[in-house]
Amino acid sequence: MSGEAARQGAANTPNGAPLLDVRDLSVYHGQLRALDALSLRVYPGEVYSIIGANGAGKSTLLRTIAGLHRPQRGSVVFDGTDVTGLRPERRARRGIVMVPEGRRLFGSLSVEENLKVGAAYARPGPWTIERVYETFDWMQERRNQRAQQLSGGEQQTVAIGRALVGNPRLLLLDELSLGLAPVVVQRIYGMLPQILATGLTVLLVEQDVSQALRVATHIHCLLEGRTTLEGTPADVTAEQVEAAYFGLASTVGVPAQPGEGSES
Ligand SMILES: Nc1ncnc2c1ncn2[C@@H]1O[C@H](COP(=O)(O)OP(=O)(O)O)[C@@H](O)[C@H]1O
Ligand SMILES: [Mg+2]
Repeated sequence: MSGEAARQGAANTPNGAPLLDVRDLSVYHGQLRALDALSLRVYPGEVYSIIGANGAGKSTLLRTIAGLHRPQRGSVVFDGTDVTGLRPERRARRGIVMVPEGRRLFGSLSVEENLKVGAAYARPGPWTIERVYETFDWMQERRNQRAQQLSGGEQQTVAIGRALVGNPRLLLLDELSLGLAPVVVQRIYGMLPQILATGLTVLLVEQDVSQALRVATHIHCLLEGRTTLEGTPADVTAEQVEAAYFGLASTVGVPAQPGEGSES
């Protein structure tokens, strides 16, 4: 989806109530502070994109929203209800569903068995396994294949399908692009409009900045667990994003290091 279409889709949302309200969240892994007093609000219909380098705390944030980590401080409020103390299954029943980093399919199970896993804590709603097969047409004829026999892009699509059959209201996507060729990444992000059309809201994290900017209604840069930049893609410049991503006070006059900038 183009950023423009996404922005139009979410045009009036900041006036309403946020679907997700993360308040002052601090999360530690042992002594390491992975998130430091982080706050954000996601409004219905948004594609809210968190960007940040490896280790910035992106997965910790999504996992804490999904209920897989307990914060030391702060709260997660979903649709007006504080869910900070709820177990992941209870959050799934309320509509918070995650596609985890690295997909995490059961490799020895079939495509269809993996999709059934997603139905375990499903809410009622438009998404069924049949609907997933209609949306991703190659999947039905390969439904009895083991997940491990699929390509990386196909596995990522099954992981998305598994999340969709839970009928999320808020879909958390952790680095869909990880380990995939650019053309495959484009194809996967190209599915977003169809998914959004069923009325859900997306919070995604990416290291691939250009991809995140392409689909985002709102971007939020994380560096070492803190916010370094926030706004709509139209509000921020590429230079600001780069500085926020790498933690540079300014990018002006900073020479490229060997091995950097290979993205372009
Ligand atoms: N389970 C864990 N135990 C200890 N440290 C962790 C754990 N998960 C993440 N970390 C550390 O927390 C920081 C943030 O990690 P993570 O949230 O995975 O970042 P990102 O997803 O942005 O790469 C990193 O320094 C990482 O090494
Ligand atoms: Mg991560």
